[in-house]
Amino acid sequence: MIKTGIEALSFYTPHRYLKLATLAERQGIDPEKFSRGIGQDKIALPGHDEDIVTMAAEAARPLIDRYGADGIDTVLFATETGIDQSKAAGIYVHQLLGLSPNCRNVELKQACYSATPALQLACSYVARRPDRKVLVIASDVARYDRDSSGEATQGAGAVAMLISAEPKVLEIGAISGLFCEDIMDFWRPNHRRTPLFDGKYSTLRYLNALVEAWRDYQANGGKAYEDFSRFCYHLPFSRMGEKAHRHLAKSAKAPLDMDQALAGMEYNRVVGNAYTASIYLALTSTLENSAEDLAGKSIGLFSYGSGATGEFFDATVVPGYRDHLFTDRHKALLKDRVAVEYDDYVSLWDAPAAQDGAELTLPDEAQGRYRLASINDNKRIYIDKNA
Ligand code: CAA
Repeated sequence: MIKTGIEALSFYTPHRYLKLATLAERQGIDPEKFSRGIGQDKIALPGHDEDIVTMAAEAARPLIDRYGADGIDTVLFATETGIDQSKAAGIYVHQLLGLSPNCRNVELKQACYSATPALQLACSYVARRPDRKVLVIASDVARYDRDSSGEATQGAGAVAMLISAEPKVLEIGAISGLFCEDIMDFWRPNHRRTPLFDGKYSTLRYLNALVEAWRDYQANGGKAYEDFSRFCYHLPFSRMGEKAHRHLAKSAKAPLDMDQALAGMEYNRVVGNAYTASIYLALTSTLENSAEDLAGKSIGLFSYGSGATGEFFDATVVPGYRDHLFTDRHKALLKDRVAVEYDDYVSLWDAPAAQDGAELTLPDEAQGRYRLASINDNKRIYIDKNA
């Protein structure tokens, strides 16, 4: 069987963040509620001229610069913070990256889950067409009402993955465990900028979906728990990963080793939730922050999307994978960010939404190569600063 998987992966997150200690001070609560209780230190904040398209293009650019665009004939864009009900966000990214016009391009949605079916579809496609590559991008802005229980779990980021029949980082296994149920744990009707959610209930349904997907993975002939070296979870906040890992070990009647999941939480602790990108940020964090060489080791991944869907699948780390990571770039990106004061956070949060037909020129703030310059005549104008 043809091996398929991730040839390379790269992430991007905006240059500004809010320290959760700042939020705790403002709310008059113990900062440990955030640092220990939910396991988060910082939340990334997009500027006025950044959105899912600019973050996606920033995440994908290093892949194109290093591996070229030859063979890419499909862009799959996963998001739950879409900017248009009709046009796929990936079409803007396709133009910004200068990809071939002979390309299919589509957006996928199912809460935080949709990058996983995108990855699976991409692997199936390149198995059929090993001369082709697929660009899978997950990009989201996690935004909750201020003073809601979700406020400390905001964040923003994008992960881009080059999927091919020459995986240089991870080979994706063919077996998945699947679970789907119709529930209202977290959702965002079209007329709302922020989601509605039942926080505690959502964490319980997440854990239930994990066990159901794991059982299905086992029933389908998946690997045994002890075959896995690392586990990666969808991380709405890093403590959810700890809860998930404890729950899975108990369900599998296996000894708990939290070190198997901790490296995957490092980046997420300082970025916050990035919805569809979150599990792939955790995967990047696992690969880049595990001191041990993971070559040949198996990683178990659990992807969750409220509403709800869950998928457990496995990946095997390819020898030489470290040569295909962007570790230095990612660490510099996180290190060079700036903390904002509470009032600046509020003014970013309160930035008015575009009004029908109104002209909007956006302040030049983005530190990356791409920015949303304006919205004129209901059309979004993106700029490549290097063009
Ligand atoms: N020091 C240390 N720990 C403290 C503390 C302190 N001073 N004060 C409180 N804590 C602990 C609590 O004991 C609690 O721990 P346990 O979970 O072990 O009980 C933890 O901090 C959280 O505190 P609360 O129980 O008071 O809960 P909360 O009101 O802060 O809400 C939450 C937590 C429900 C997760 C909330 O952040 C939320 O609603 N988030 C948005 C929804 C979400 O992320 N759901 C996750 C599953 S759905 C999903 O995964 C999809 C998605 O991306 C949204």
